[in-house]
Amino acid sequence: MTGPSWVPTIDDARVRDGAYVAVYPKGLGVLLARIDGDLFAVANKCAHMGCPLEGGKLDGPVLTCPCHDWRFDLRTGVFLDAPELALATYPVKVEDGKIHVEVGGA
Ligand code: FES
Repeated sequence: MTGPSWVPTIDDARVRDGAYVAVYPKGLGVLLARIDGDLFAVANKCAHMGCPLEGGKLDGPVLTCPCHDWRFDLRTGVFLDAPELALATYPVKVEDGKIHVEVGGA
């Protein structure tokens, strides 16, 4: 059973391997990234001062925030220099060719 909090976003084919796309399920800023073939969803909001992360450079699994260069592993959301800090992450799945994100009560 799929719960009501799974929100369809874009076609699976739009997220290329090694790249990310910004989406807004229920108005929530989320980055969808494909890394080594697997999809991940993290908040499009830096854990430092809240800058949008889109526009940041992705190198393997590591996204660098465009504002002050904090680096996050998009597979886990973890901030590389202080792992106790992390981006919010969201469950993600593909159904009928579309990427769905579970945004909880957002
Ligand atoms: S807001 Fe992202 S590093 Fe400062």
